[in-house]
Amino acid sequence: MDPWITPSILAADFSRLGDEVRTVLAAGADAIHFDVMDNHYVPNLSVGPLVLASLRKAGITACVDVHLMVKPVDRLVEDFLNAGADYVSVHPETTEHLHRTLSMIRARGAKAGLVFNPGTPMEILEEVIDCVDLILIMSVNPGFGGQKFIESSLSKLARAREIIDHTGLPIRLQIDGGIKIDNIAAAASAGADTFVAGTAIFASDDYAKTISAMREKIKQTGD
Ligand code: DX5
Ligand code: ZN
Repeated sequence: MDPWITPSILAADFSRLGDEVRTVLAAGADAIHFDVMDNHYVPNLSVGPLVLASLRKAGITACVDVHLMVKPVDRLVEDFLNAGADYVSVHPETTEHLHRTLSMIRARGAKAGLVFNPGTPMEILEEVIDCVDLILIMSVNPGFGGQKFIESSLSKLARAREIIDHTGLPIRLQIDGGIKIDNIAAAASAGADTFVAGTAIFASDDYAKTISAMREKIKQTGD
């Protein structure tokens, strides 16, 4: 699958979010990663569906990948689908009935993602792999931007890549947390094709330069 770079808005300037999103899209982002935190499942609070709805209302039509770090999750899945999410990703710990939650996302015509924390085993994947369009491997513990990349997520990525290839299903493999220009190649080599980066992009002086440097590093792993 074509590699995608999906900047996390968590590191954007929220006082001018619409402009930040437009700028990062013009700089070459493939989709927007929209981090939702509830101060319950994770120890931080971010933004809700109203913010996505207003970006849509402001004319932003790009693919939006919503990462829900909220418990319980089902109500907010609905709300984000109504607000215009393209991908909705959930953590297995946040729903009593994972199969139902993933199926509900797809039934509404959106793509379903399943997220694994550094400490979450991947066994459950086997049971629901037919219901997912994206697997997200967390390379930090969820809750904050700007954390350090956890190296053991590379072997988790490699295991997920093996499972995806074995099924032959068109599933994206996303990595999220601490991704920078200097470690994105390692994630790509381990099998990721979709890369979240918050701080590395939004704290840089030139979003386009950072995104193209990332793309170049990914490309080199395939040469
Ligand atoms: C962490 C979030 C990440 C994070 C990425 O809970 O899911 O998307 O904001 O930010 P950086 O790239 O700064 O680690
Ligand atoms: Zn995220």
